Amino acid sequence: MQDKKTFYITTPIYYPSADLHIGHTYCTVMADAMARFKRATGYDVRFLTGTDEHGQKIEKVAQENGVTPQEYVDDVVGRIKKLWDTMEISYDDFIRTTEDRHVKRVQEIFNKMYEKGDIYKGEYEGLYCTPCEAFWTEVQAVDGKCPDCGRPVEKAKEEAYFFRLSKYQDQLIELLENNPEFLQPEARRNEMLSFIRQGLDDLCISRSTFDWGIQVPVDPKHVIYVWLDALTNYITKIGYDADGNSSDLFKKNWPADLHLIGKDIIRFHTIYWPIFLMALDLPLPKQVFGHPWLLQGGDKMSKSKGNVIYADDMVDLFGVDATRYFVLHEMPFENDGVITWELVVERFNSDLANILGNLVNRTVSMSNKYFSGVVRSTGVTEEVDEDLKAVVTGARDRVAQKMKDLRVADAISEVFGVFRRCNKYIDETAPWVLAKDEAKSDRLAEVLYNLAESITVGASLLYSFLPETAEKIVAQLHTQLRGFEELNQFGLYENGTKVTGTPEILFARLDAKDVMPKVEAIREAQKKEFEAEQRALGEETPAEEKAEDVIDIEAKEEITYDDFMKLQFQVGEIISCEAVEKSKKLLCSQVRVGSEVKQIVSGIRKYYTPEEMVGKKVMVLVNLKPAKLAGVLSEGMLLCAEDAEGNLALMTPEKPMPAGAEIC
Ligand code: MSP
Repeated sequence: MQDKKTFYITTPIYYPSADLHIGHTYCTVMADAMARFKRATGYDVRFLTGTDEHGQKIEKVAQENGVTPQEYVDDVVGRIKKLWDTMEISYDDFIRTTEDRHVKRVQEIFNKMYEKGDIYKGEYEGLYCTPCEAFWTEVQAVDGKCPDCGRPVEKAKEEAYFFRLSKYQDQLIELLENNPEFLQPEARRNEMLSFIRQGLDDLCISRSTFDWGIQVPVDPKHVIYVWLDALTNYITKIGYDADGNSSDLFKKNWPADLHLIGKDIIRFHTIYWPIFLMALDLPLPKQVFGHPWLLQGGDKMSKSKGNVIYADDMVDLFGVDATRYFVLHEMPFENDGVITWELVVERFNSDLANILGNLVNRTVSMSNKYFSGVVRSTGVTEEVDEDLKAVVTGARDRVAQKMKDLRVADAISEVFGVFRRCNKYIDETAPWVLAKDEAKSDRLAEVLYNLAESITVGASLLYSFLPETAEKIVAQLHTQLRGFEELNQFGLYENGTKVTGTPEILFARLDAKDVMPKVEAIREAQKKEFEAEQRALGEETPAEEKAEDVIDIEAKEEITYDDFMKLQFQVGEIISCEAVEKSKKLLCSQVRVGSEVKQIVSGIRKYYTPEEMVGKKVMVLVNLKPAKLAGVLSEGMLLCAEDAEGNLALMTPEKPMPAGAEIC
């Protein structure tokens, strides 16, 4: 018996520095759809995903959370695995780069490269972007910012190990020039080629300013650069052994057929990775697809903007398959896709509830109503049937072609093309009209048979994308999903099958009015969580490290010392306070300054209650000319600090001070 053809597909391994959002989920769901489709078409598939657990970013975030890096990643990885289970991701293996076996194999790989002379020791001086774990030269870092993510880079100088990228530069150019299929989409290939042609600097592949990484075997005070550690996951997990004892699994699956990654990490996968493999004398992966990004309403998702969409929340509101459908259908091949809650509701109603849900429901209901659920082929065909059959039997190869071209959104649209054609067929044949005429009963039966057959084919094609829905559909039709080789045939639905008597609504229409308040609650909870995190950080992070604490205000005209000396500041004690009746903003305080009591009106009612004010020692400008505010006399001013968001704090002495003490 001939062995099945293999197909090895990988996702990026995700940083468990935080919970994954819908953008990450999109990539994994797409890989899952591809893996399922390949399995359906007879391949022996290996589907690998996992987590990239080392590096300074993880070390930092663990520290901020007061746990060890290992404890931190264990927790997040647990949630990531749960998410993939929820999303029905059919991965075969999950790599964690903190696994002993991976660690050992990466060290062997390092040794092999070192012994070969591709790695040497030198001194690194340059810029480093911690969030991206990427090194940049002064020229590459635009205005001191990382060219990938736009965040500030930090100066780094340390003794380090380097990899001789330049040695392999020409070989890499040849690869990219001669293999247009290697990197998709095509436009990305040209970007990479011009980057390489500018000349590749040797790559710094070790760090010694933090510990959370795999130790350099020949020099344990260094850890191996996280991208060398991460990229090699694709071979270590399937059993690559640098000492020549690679496993059968490795021999069977390497080179990978497809590395699915996001557009931001193409450079790592099409420059560093092929070069590392060349250094190891290993064949190169057949294809890298750098997919576009999913943007929230056109914006990058970020916790600080409070616009992150998590798959878990979508699943709660819409279900697993609706979430899978949205990300698969809405992502173009090359340009970024857009997600908003409103768009999800719209798609849910138009495609899932109307086109698919209604079709199945109507077909099952009509079969019950007109034939007690029994579906029969009577052979009473009409010309209109031909086009339906052509669309249905041709769908398989159209879907296959789109999948081969990595155009997953187009592939799922082809599947829905079957369901759309069925709906049109119902309009064309008008079963409810046929039902009125006894003589047309056999024609009516044939129409319903054609629908049941077409839906079965459509559901079988749908399985790679929305597995649960596909199963539910055939369960209602009391049949099974079909094998790929049968999907270009028509008429295999068993004659006389009785469909379910109680059709299940697959996707109940949603009303945006019901959904949006739930979305608001999700946003609100996210905002609160972010604020709490920031507050927690604030206690531990020195103010100068927090960029958001720096506020620039418009500079006022310079004053002389004499000008300053004209202002009289003293400590005052608030002895009573009440709201000003005619105003929503003002509080009126009686403030004792030395032996005098001054009445001071301040616009701080939004921030303090009168009760909170009483007893506070505050900073008072006492020689301000008295004026009336909302009809109430004010004889001074309480000084406050205000941040960019308009938050306000009264200035109080840092140590106990008597009321009346001069501020100078
Ligand atoms: N750990 C590295 C990958 C190492 S692979 C050997 C990494 N991790 S990541 O968690 O930051 O990103 C993982 C993937 O998620 C990347 O491919 C990235 O492009 C993708 N995405 C992050 N945000 C995304 C969207 N908003 N939309 C689509 N994909 C997105 O990079």
